[in-house]
Amino acid sequence: MHVFLIAALTADGFIAKSIDQISTRWTSREDADFFAAKTKEARVVVMGRTTFETIGRPLPDRKTIVYTSHELTGFPPEQVEATQLPPAELLAKIEAEGYTNVAICGGSKVYTKWMQSGLINTLYLTIEPVLFGTGIRLFSEEITTQIRLTERHLLSDQTTVFEYEVVK
Ligand SMILES: NC(=O)c1ccc[n+]([C@@H]2O[C@H](COP(=O)([O-])OP(=O)(O)OC[C@H]3O[C@@H](n4cnc5c(N)ncnc54)[C@H](OP(=O)(O)O)[C@@H]3O)[C@@H](O)[C@H]2O)c1
Repeated sequence: MHVFLIAALTADGFIAKSIDQISTRWTSREDADFFAAKTKEARVVVMGRTTFETIGRPLPDRKTIVYTSHELTGFPPEQVEATQLPPAELLAKIEAEGYTNVAICGGSKVYTKWMQSGLINTLYLTIEPVLFGTGIRLFSEEITTQIRLTERHLLSDQTTVFEYEVVK
């Protein structure tokens, strides 16, 4: 099972300025295209309720699994599913449904939980030429994972995606 984390960061290491900020407001068109291509390949995305609310709708052509302790109403169940399962249990369920890839799409709380679980194989980190100075970081707790740079995807002269594999 290929489990990848996908995130866009400012050059000073933030994924958002505030929790209600949708990422596409400050990321590039090229990154949006990269995100769409990678997550459509995966066909299933996992995100936290806060991130889901910034987007406000399911991502087309992908199943969206949302971490929340609340009920999610008003969305077709085949497109949006709420979960509270620990990463290993959720991954087993996703695998049993026939998926071979899953995209972990944030935010900070969800990235942290999944990174700590040891289940992530690959990270795609886009660096955008933007500075926030303060805001939400990629992770919100201690992480002790080693990673290795495997590829650089030059999306434009301004935006690069750094692809890392997790050293197990
Ligand atoms: N730049 C990027 O690539 C990128 C990507 C994604 C997100 N973001 C940004 O990140 C920010 C949001 O990050 P965040 O860390 O504040 O929030 P988040 O991870 O998106 O969502 C946190 C919420 O998820 C639910 N949750 C998390 N773990 C859970 C568990 N084990 N069981 C049940 N529910 C759980 C809780 O919702 P309930 O309160 O409903 O229980 C929690 O409040 C936004 O600004 C967003 O735009 C940036």
